[in-house]
Amino acid sequence: MSANRTKAVRALGIVGSPRRRGNTDVLVDEVLAGAKEQGAAFEKVYLGRLDISPCRACDTCKKTGVCVVQDDMQSLLKKMRAADVWVLGTPVYFWGPTGWFKAFVDRWYGARKQVRFEDKHAVVVVPMEDTNPATARHTTGMMQDTLDHVKTPLVTTVVAPGVLKRGAVQAKIEAMRSARRAGRDAAARAYAKRQCHPSD
Ligand SMILES: Cc1cc2nc3c(=O)[nH]c(=O)nc-3n(C[C@H](O)[C@H](O)[C@H](O)COP(=O)(O)O)c2cc1C
Repeated sequence: MSANRTKAVRALGIVGSPRRRGNTDVLVDEVLAGAKEQGAAFEKVYLGRLDISPCRACDTCKKTGVCVVQDDMQSLLKKMRAADVWVLGTPVYFWGPTGWFKAFVDRWYGARKQVRFEDKHAVVVVPMEDTNPATARHTTGMMQDTLDHVKTPLVTTVVAPGVLKRGAVQAKIEAMRSARRAGRDAAARAYAKRQCHPSD
């Protein structure tokens, strides 16, 4: 093992559902467990417990590089900056993400000078009640296009259809396996990037 591999990569799980131990939470945990298998350190936050206001579109951040809204986004950005892997989870709410999750992503608008988005590796997890995977298309499409826009490599998107009740996704073996694999892959990519950029 080389010296730069001995420093553990860090994975940050971000749960966009208000339900603790819900399907998003379980899937995010499974991705983090996969990252841990590769030696990653990890942490998880619940957006529902944070105070993150929507973007006000004042464009002050364009001049100063800093958002005028002082809330929990500043501490979350610090965690995002420190992490190599972001596990971004939201259930489908009326074909889109939850309000918490959308407000969080909109705040990336003012964060581009504070976080090196292009250096991260993202995994997106999306559970939902509908059994038709196409129902997640707006949510997964929003994340694919947004990550593409901010130049964050998307490792994979795990969609878990057919889960309504809290924690029901635990019985969905394929989704759980995909989530675990995604975590392993994301951590492996973060370690591989570090081999190329030993100073990171
Ligand atoms: C307000 C609300 C809107 C929802 N809208 C949809 C929907 O449009 N399509 C769908 O398949 N499931 C929908 N669901 C179901 C959730 O996506 C599903 O229960 C999911 O597993 C919840 O994830 P969680 O356990 O992480 O909260 C909705 C649930 C809520 C509370």
